[in-house]
Amino acid sequence: MKGIVLAGGSGSRLFPLTKITNKHLLPIFDRPMIYYPIQTLVDAGIRDIMIVTGGRNSGDFLRLLANGKEFGLKHINYTYQEGEGGIADALALAEHFADGQKICVVLGDNIIEGDVKSAVEQFRAQEKGAHILLKEVTDAERFGVAEVDGGKVVGIEEKPKRPKSNFAVTGIYMYDATVFEKIRTLVPSRRGELEITDVNNAYIREGTMTHSLLHGWWTDAGTFDSLLRAANLVAQSAGREAEAGSPASAVEGTVRA
Ligand code: DAU
Repeated sequence: MKGIVLAGGSGSRLFPLTKITNKHLLPIFDRPMIYYPIQTLVDAGIRDIMIVTGGRNSGDFLRLLANGKEFGLKHINYTYQEGEGGIADALALAEHFADGQKICVVLGDNIIEGDVKSAVEQFRAQEKGAHILLKEVTDAERFGVAEVDGGKVVGIEEKPKRPKSNFAVTGIYMYDATVFEKIRTLVPSRRGELEITDVNNAYIREGTMTHSLLHGWWTDAGTFDSLLRAANLVAQSAGREAEAGSPASAVEGTVRA
């Protein structure tokens, strides 16, 4: 399975932090934001990775990440999104890279505590279709929200005023190769973007969408509040690991829970 990190968009909700840099290069505690979704893919055993970025600071990704040595990778693929046409528009640019294989897509501002290894393994065994990861939240109206009926996701609404459940669709998506055909049928939403929720609903209509629940904490980092929350969650986790004596996380001055 190939991995794709989507790190385009304008980051307008974080202006002026994003006036002179790309959102995904901002710090989350002790690392740039983009490190976390890359690590999520690597931890799931995915080593063939493409980063979709855009804007004026795209060259900084290459300077920061190079060939991915810090993640134990030999090579990272990069591509460039013109404008901010939406998550599905950014994903469309990875068709050539995917080359007919299944893909695992992680939004560049999504940070998780645990790993998605078992969901990736489950999707490897799934004959066709898609797989999404849900997380119960208290502010579902900020996200794509899944309507679950009889243990199945029967529909997803993007940022509904009155959410039908508390299950947010996290920014970790697994797709078969038909995802690119589905993207070609999309029309821009009211916010002028090709929506990943429309892609997911196409799989739901087809009857090939599966889901699982994400364990551990999950957050996006695209607003001032969630950026701070992400940093605090990462710092607290690092503190706990350091207390438990993990050599990989000997972080000084961590925030305590
Ligand atoms: O975080 C999960 C949520 O992400 C989902 O629950 C929603 O269904 C999904 O639409 C998305 O919602 P947001 O409105 O928060 O997405 P945002 O516009 O912040 O974009 C998230 C990431 O996607 C961003 O960090 C980079 C990438 N992106 C976004 C756009 C609009 C691109 O690569 N290109 C783009 O044009």
